[in-house]
Amino acid sequence: MRNIATENYVIEFDSGYKSLTNIINEGNYTKIFLLVDENTKKYCLNIFIKKTKLKPYLIKISSGEENKNIDSCIKIWKSLIDFKADRKSLLINLGGGVITDIGGFSANTFNRGIDFVNVPTTLLSFVDASVGGKTGINFQSIKNKIGTFYDPMLVIIDLQYLDTLEEREIRSGYCEIYKHSLISQTNSKFKQLTNSDKINFSSQIITNSIEIKKSFVTKDKYEKQLRKGLNFGHTIGHAIETFFMSTSNSLLHGESIAIGLIIESYISNVICGFEIKMVDKIKNHILKIYPKIEFNASSTNSIIKLMYHDKKNIDEKIKFVLLKNIGDLVFDVDVPKSTILKAFNYYSS
Ligand SMILES: NC(=O)c1ccc[n+]([C@@H]2O[C@H](COP(=O)([O-])OP(=O)(O)OC[C@H]3O[C@@H](n4cnc5c(N)ncnc54)[C@H](O)[C@@H]3O)[C@@H](O)[C@H]2O)c1
Ligand SMILES: [Zn+2]
Repeated sequence: MRNIATENYVIEFDSGYKSLTNIINEGNYTKIFLLVDENTKKYCLNIFIKKTKLKPYLIKISSGEENKNIDSCIKIWKSLIDFKADRKSLLINLGGGVITDIGGFSANTFNRGIDFVNVPTTLLSFVDASVGGKTGINFQSIKNKIGTFYDPMLVIIDLQYLDTLEEREIRSGYCEIYKHSLISQTNSKFKQLTNSDKINFSSQIITNSIEIKKSFVTKDKYEKQLRKGLNFGHTIGHAIETFFMSTSNSLLHGESIAIGLIIESYISNVICGFEIKMVDKIKNHILKIYPKIEFNASSTNSIIKLMYHDKKNIDEKIKFVLLKNIGDLVFDVDVPKSTILKAFNYYSS
């Protein structure tokens, strides 16, 4: 597997731990801290310690999106102070996207910024959260409302961590891999993934997926236009995720986005002429992997209302990023409610 160099740091595979040792040796760090949640403490910590031989100060927060908040940040800042961290301390984040987001944010804000390294441990954080430099927490029930752009020194991708990850989490991460294939200009990966009944997260697919995300981020770090392409499927998907959060059968991020990909592909057909044959293929592939979810008039209406919270909306209008073709994006599109309802019907049919 080849390493992937971004503007300010490298995403490394097998050589990652050696680079970490070099960074630590050359960085004259006073103390090394390791952030985990209870699951990565249980499943990933031993692997990490065995491979790095480090003896870091451990900081643990509770797992889950509901803990990606200011209280967890306060816990991290307090621990850093209790262990006498200073400007020259290093924080290593060992976990999924929740840990890398909140760890990056805490590092950026502690002492006006200390160095940090990400060691993602979920498929989603490999292909999505590990590249792009976004850090953040949720605030007042709004996802990623408070955050910064702050790059890690290094990202280490070690596929061994996936051995203990629940299948449902693997599926959730796969959705971003599939999304990347839809928005990438080379459609070979789209074909390869779509023609299979199963999910594919080989090292080659993971590397390619990271590279697609990197290409969007490199060209448009601050999301002026192109980076919005990464939000394909997310305008509807986020609202679906938020809606089900308050019910007894909440959906994982990727499970919600999978529905969003189908619905926004259909809207792309209606508005941008994206071939219906392609939309059908996308739907078939996704429904072979993810369970179909039931929507009724009331839930659909609530979801549409929730979309007004989406961060891409300018002046309270729902703005979509759509596809004309694989890898051919159309930005800031107004979509009438009637088309959204039609697209929900298409998903359910
Ligand atoms: N910064 C970005 O650009 C970016 C991009 C995409 C997503 N995100 C963020 O990432 C978060 C979602 O990430 P996620 O899906 O990794 O969620 P997560 O961090 O909550 O991890 C999912 C679950 O798996 C557990 N876990 C993690 N690694 C494990 C392992 N190796 N074995 C067993 N269990 C393990 C965690 O404890 C958690 O319960 C969201 O908050 C999202 O906003 C950020
Ligand atoms: Zn996503």
